Amino acid sequence: MAKQKKRGKQATLAAQANKHALYEASVQCSEYEIDWVTARFAEMRGRPLRKLREDFCGTANAACEYVKRHPDNTATGVDLDADVLEWGRKHHLAALPAEAQARIQLLNQDVKQASTPSVDAVLAMNFSYWVFETRASLLEYFQHARNNLADDGMLFLDAFGGYDCFKDDEEEETEYDDFTYVWHLRSFNPIDNHCAYAIHFRFADGSEIENAFTYHWRHWSLPEIRELLEEAGFQKITIWMQGWDDEADEATDEFFASTEADADPGWVAYISAEK
Ligand SMILES: C[S@@+](CC[C@H](N)C(=O)[O-])C[C@H]1O[C@@H](n2cnc3c(N)ncnc32)[C@H](O)[C@@H]1O
Repeated sequence: MAKQKKRGKQATLAAQANKHALYEASVQCSEYEIDWVTARFAEMRGRPLRKLREDFCGTANAACEYVKRHPDNTATGVDLDADVLEWGRKHHLAALPAEAQARIQLLNQDVKQASTPSVDAVLAMNFSYWVFETRASLLEYFQHARNNLADDGMLFLDAFGGYDCFKDDEEEETEYDDFTYVWHLRSFNPIDNHCAYAIHFRFADGSEIENAFTYHWRHWSLPEIRELLEEAGFQKITIWMQGWDDEADEATDEFFASTEADADPGWVAYISAEK
């Protein structure tokens, strides 16, 4: 019998990829986020931001970016998912000098339970706080975040909206060099604003990481968020709408403190809340 050549089955591009690395390459820009938050804090509080808590930190990319910026910066990252924290430890914390690693701690806890020494700023980015789907639970989170802040501390959030968010089963694709990022609105229920999203990553060989991340959220509107922040005791809430370049027909990197905005099909905003 002829000896059969062993043919190693080529792994698909999806099988060779890592979903956390793809997420960071497509969704998160920690450098920009830390630039923005530290600049706003310094402007609004007249002193540098030295103690940060990153709620829903995932891989703690932002917390690691922050401790790199200054030898006095300290950060705490909080996330419920032990696996994502472990990935962050291996890929981000381990890459920091030992001295910087010592200025960051990761807590595998619920953001509503985790108590930390008071910080200058709490960050809850990429809409993660939308996981709280009732007024009572979101208020409880905002109160908890406020309790963890120094007297002049600030909470930074983001939000998105626009009429495109209320269409069922819509996919938005963005091409990157090695993969396509897909933001999939699976469903939206106008009765309770419950929405289900998924992130898929697709590759040139036809392979896919389907449902790499899935989210079940309530779509909160800006006035609802503002009212709950006020109820939680925050003094001044500012909505920062992302700028738009008409010529290039794309969003800019600037966010403007706004009290009025166009009813665009899709928009992104930062929110700052001062204790
Ligand atoms: C959308 S990811 C955000 C990751 C990162 N902060 C970013 O900006 O891209 C949401 C993260 O929140 C975490 N999470 C969800 N509910 C949580 C809770 N109650 N307490 C702590 N972490 C939570 C999930 O494990 C997940 O890592």
